[in-house]
Amino acid sequence: MAHQKIRKAVFPAAGMGTRFLPATKSIPKEMLCLVDKPLIQYGVEEAVAAGCTEIIIVTGRDKAAMEDHFDSSPELEAALAARGKLSLLDAVRSLSKLAKIVYTRQAEPLGLGHAILMAKELVGDEPFCVLLPDDIVDARVPCMKQMVEVFDQTQSSILASEAVEGPAISNYGCLDCTPDARNPRLLAVKGMVEKPRFEDAPSANAIIGRYILTPRIFQMIEGVKPGAGGELQLTDAIKALLEFEKVYGFHYEGKRHDAGDKLGFLKATVELALKREDLGPGFREWLKQFPL
Ligand code: G1P
Repeated sequence: MAHQKIRKAVFPAAGMGTRFLPATKSIPKEMLCLVDKPLIQYGVEEAVAAGCTEIIIVTGRDKAAMEDHFDSSPELEAALAARGKLSLLDAVRSLSKLAKIVYTRQAEPLGLGHAILMAKELVGDEPFCVLLPDDIVDARVPCMKQMVEVFDQTQSSILASEAVEGPAISNYGCLDCTPDARNPRLLAVKGMVEKPRFEDAPSANAIIGRYILTPRIFQMIEGVKPGAGGELQLTDAIKALLEFEKVYGFHYEGKRHDAGDKLGFLKATVELALKREDLGPGFREWLKQFPL
């Protein structure tokens, strides 16, 4: 088979965001901001840095805010130009030039696997990546770029993975895997299970919200039955893929924040703010007043 490149990234963004109500009553969860950028923008920038030129966002409702965010805004741009706010103008303009962004809808919340299936026609017959906007990975080399480099060598599906402690594994897809002899960061996957009980978990290796998938995954999703939580699970479809193809887990280099959880969101805000050149020093100074 010819060497294939990753050009397309799918973002499931149709969740109801119930954990962040009332904030998410009228704006999508993916538009919540860490410091000054919405969650979805972190993911889209990561995909673009990994070489993707087409972004497919699967939305369910309230997509207007996301569409507007990545669209050009002539009035705003003219106002910023007139006031000489050139760096802000650049930040706003570059957003609409990031990539080709297309939207498709998931009418019913039937699960992550179902959300990905909504992108089937837009993806076509080529490997693609999936980024879950709730998972923010702070890394020197963007996480998806690291994964694309592995894909270039393996031409197989790759699942980002992190070892988690104790019962936390029940919040994730869990890999049944063995270390790959060639690369200490790679795991050869034998099986996987979505949100296992701690006692039943085959390992501590959780699936994190970054995937590279081969197009056969769509057939697999069409074949699986509702799984954990009564939803069509992407994990079950990837498990089915194992009958036909190799799948690897990948321990990426970087720190992942679960911004889909309130405490995780707060931690991400603090850590990202402290790292900022413009805000970090002042914020650090201000934090000192709290006896931690
Ligand atoms: C989803 C996946 C799960 C994965 C997790 C990573 O679960 O189904 O396999 O471990 O994302 O964030 P969710 O967090 O949507 O319940």
